[in-house]
Amino acid sequence: MKKFFDSLFWKISFVFLFILVIISSVYMYISVTTAEMYFQETRQRLDTEIAAHIASDNDCFIGDSVNTDVLKNVFHNVMVINPSIEVYLLNTEGKILTYFAPYHEITLEYVPLDPIKEFISLEDHEFLMAIDPKNPTQKKAFSAAEVIEDGELKGYIYVILGGEEYENASQLVFGSYILRLGVRSMVFALITAAVIGFIAIGFITKNIRAMVGTIREFKNGNLNARIKTKGKGELSEFSDSFNDMADTIVSNIDEIKRIDKLRRELVANVSHDLRTPLAIIRGYIETVLIKDEKLSADERKKYLETILSSTDRLLNLVEELFELSKLEAKDKTLQLEEFPIAELLQDVYQKNLIIAESNKIKVTIELSDNLPLIKADVGMMEKVFQNLVDNALKFTPENGSIKLIAERFDNNNLSIKVIDSGIGIDKDQLPNIFDKYYQIKRVSDGKNKGTGLGLAIVKKILDLHKFDIVVDSEVNKGTSFNIIINCTLDCK
Ligand SMILES: Nc1ncnc2c1ncn2[C@@H]1O[C@H](COP(=O)(O)OP(=O)(O)OP(=O)(O)O)[C@@H](O)[C@H]1O
Ligand SMILES: [Mg+2]
Repeated sequence: MKKFFDSLFWKISFVFLFILVIISSVYMYISVTTAEMYFQETRQRLDTEIAAHIASDNDCFIGDSVNTDVLKNVFHNVMVINPSIEVYLLNTEGKILTYFAPYHEITLEYVPLDPIKEFISLEDHEFLMAIDPKNPTQKKAFSAAEVIEDGELKGYIYVILGGEEYENASQLVFGSYILRLGVRSMVFALITAAVIGFIAIGFITKNIRAMVGTIREFKNGNLNARIKTKGKGELSEFSDSFNDMADTIVSNIDEIKRIDKLRRELVANVSHDLRTPLAIIRGYIETVLIKDEKLSADERKKYLETILSSTDRLLNLVEELFELSKLEAKDKTLQLEEFPIAELLQDVYQKNLIIAESNKIKVTIELSDNLPLIKADVGMMEKVFQNLVDNALKFTPENGSIKLIAERFDNNNLSIKVIDSGIGIDKDQLPNIFDKYYQIKRVSDGKNKGTGLGLAIVKKILDLHKFDIVVDSEVNKGTSFNIIINCTLDCK
């Protein structure tokens, strides 16, 4: 039950109802007071002369004393004709000298004279109210006139017009057909507004409930749950944002799954790649130990060389893994220095000449004359070019060619290309080759003994330097990797 009333529908409904009740109460209050004032104003307009008549038609004083007998009679007659009227005789200070008001004892001794004087002095006065001596907390419509005898101001006739008839609002309302009708119409309007309001709130909260339902569904594992959006406005904006967020979460999950799959493949690859050279090393060492003296010097040398090359492979693999994990942990800071790019490329070229020749691959280098100094980490950049050349050598068959080209273009840019005439990369695979652990599965792939870390390392290093790399490839024609350096920032 508590949960039911906790719902947005009920919260908004209660607030709405509360506002309705407040507005209607204020409206009622204003209507009733206005009606009452209007009633009093009308009385004042109709009976405005009544005090003047009493004052002029009768002798209110005999000398300085009040003509009580005559006045009682006059007051009584007036009230018989108009029972809601109460008449008072005041002296010039406002003291009540005599009065006729049935059923009540008056408590007030003096009546304030300001409204009375205003009433008398202004012909065309506004609606005025003054204190009712019987009930000093209330103000009522009145009529007043000066009592002048022998040219001398003796006092005032003060007539309260409202009388006792309508002392409170409910009496006024239920005493008037029009006001009763007004109240009834207002109650009707209130109920209609409440019903329409509830339906509207119901509609709005229905959409919100649907949204909450979908979000809960998503939270409970249905990753396909999306909020259906209609039209424009805050709610659809909210829904769109949730849907976008859900898409991002789903694509992140897919990405994590993909990386995890690659990672598991790497563990398998690495274990395999570690095991092979280790088995070779172990086998040869065992042979050397067992055969010992029986081995010729040549054989011993050959065995030891094999052990050495297998150890190198292991070392290389472990280094690559270590390198990438350091780059990824952002543990590696760049040792920036200015150096001639031409020299570095020459070095890489020289180092790879022999292995290329032994693979029957032709390596050439083309460096234009105006090559600049670049600001970068030499060691890391050497690794980048070495990895690219390694790949070119690995994926280019006999009699193929590899070119290293460096040139400036568009005045401010430097381009360094490693181009091979090898087996190429399928267009579908191109976007993935920079992912760590990624290797293209080819049918005749006996040659590829790597781990798929080379290009991931290349990309990480270039990202650290904010250099770009573009790859272009055609299957069975060759591949070109193009590194672009912005010389306005990084050259001299
Ligand atoms: N020049 C190239 N020609 C054809 N395919 C290439 C070339 N360079 C990279 N590839 C493809 O991209 C994949 C990823 O390259 P990467 O250098 O990251 O890994 P790898 O060379 O297999 O292993 P590692 O470099 O760690 O020894 C390679 O397995 C290969 O299939
Ligand atoms: Mg490689």
